[in-house]
Amino acid sequence: MDIFEEIKVKGFADEYIDPSLDLFAEIDRLKKEKNAVILAHYYQEGDIQDIADYIGDSLGLSQQAAKTDADIIVFAGVHFMAETAKILSPDKKVLLPDLKAGCSLADSCPPHLFKKFKEQYPDHLVITYVNCTAELKALSDIVCTSSNAVQIVESLPKDQKIIFGPDRNLGAWVAKKTGRDLVLWNGACMVHEIFSREKITKLKERHPNAKILAHPECEEVILQMADYIGSTTGILKYATNSPEKEFIVATESGIMHQMEKDNPDKTFIPAPPNNQCACNDCPHMKRNTLEKLYLCLKNEMPEVEVPVHIIKDAVKPIERMLEISAKLGL
Ligand code: 13P
Ligand code: SF4
Repeated sequence: MDIFEEIKVKGFADEYIDPSLDLFAEIDRLKKEKNAVILAHYYQEGDIQDIADYIGDSLGLSQQAAKTDADIIVFAGVHFMAETAKILSPDKKVLLPDLKAGCSLADSCPPHLFKKFKEQYPDHLVITYVNCTAELKALSDIVCTSSNAVQIVESLPKDQKIIFGPDRNLGAWVAKKTGRDLVLWNGACMVHEIFSREKITKLKERHPNAKILAHPECEEVILQMADYIGSTTGILKYATNSPEKEFIVATESGIMHQMEKDNPDKTFIPAPPNNQCACNDCPHMKRNTLEKLYLCLKNEMPEVEVPVHIIKDAVKPIERMLEISAKLGL
């Protein structure tokens, strides 16, 4: 029986929750009782961000997962993030509210194909963006996130040949910023490739003072329009520190929650997508709900497991990233 069937049989996924239950109070009680910590990505729904012990981008979340002394990590994010937490803290129980919370970018790089790709460049070092499977990390030399990709590449000798995967947009942006000639895997994120240059141009005409903030997973045509390009934490900090009052935000819409909370006097406009859908939600991130988070903490499942032999190889490139980041004060 696979894990999804097991959950169905045990009934946890659709267990009845008394609607009068104060989920915030219950989650808080269970957290203390079980010595659990809730780590949430900025793309999670607002309620989850509000109950989390730590909210952050992929780098911040990995750093927290590596240093927590909790017995249980509830990872409110997607599967590759929970896997990273498990790789860094293999003795802890790592829970993911919805085990089907995957990632289109991670899916765009199947490890068996990447292995063949890598074999074509035997003298290249492999840097992989953290948004990939544990198996892919195990095939890598260094992992990076959008917060440190440029610095990680720059930390290597200039003549070092590099394969960068799986995100072609982040890779192209890093190549441009560093002046390095990177061999790119052709992967992408479905959310960050949805923005429309034409619609953003029209929006900018109506809001001429608005600054455009973009995540480097966006396509080159969108990045060319941006006043600031950075990770989710970078985007949030830029908006908070900027004297400007209006921002057009080209990344997943969950980030708006913290932006608006931290800056009640500023206006944040989601960058429009190239279809008729009004939102830029990541369908994977948004599989998690407060109800599922409560149930997973109560039942201590679904749990994310990573085979020991994969942990053995995948932990090295992640630790290398954390060491370089710590040295650079990131
Ligand atoms: P960061 O958290 O590094 O900004 O990455 C964004 C993302 O797409 C996570 O899935
Ligand atoms: Fe993956 Fe993109 Fe969703 Fe991030 S926003 S989890 S990269 S699909």
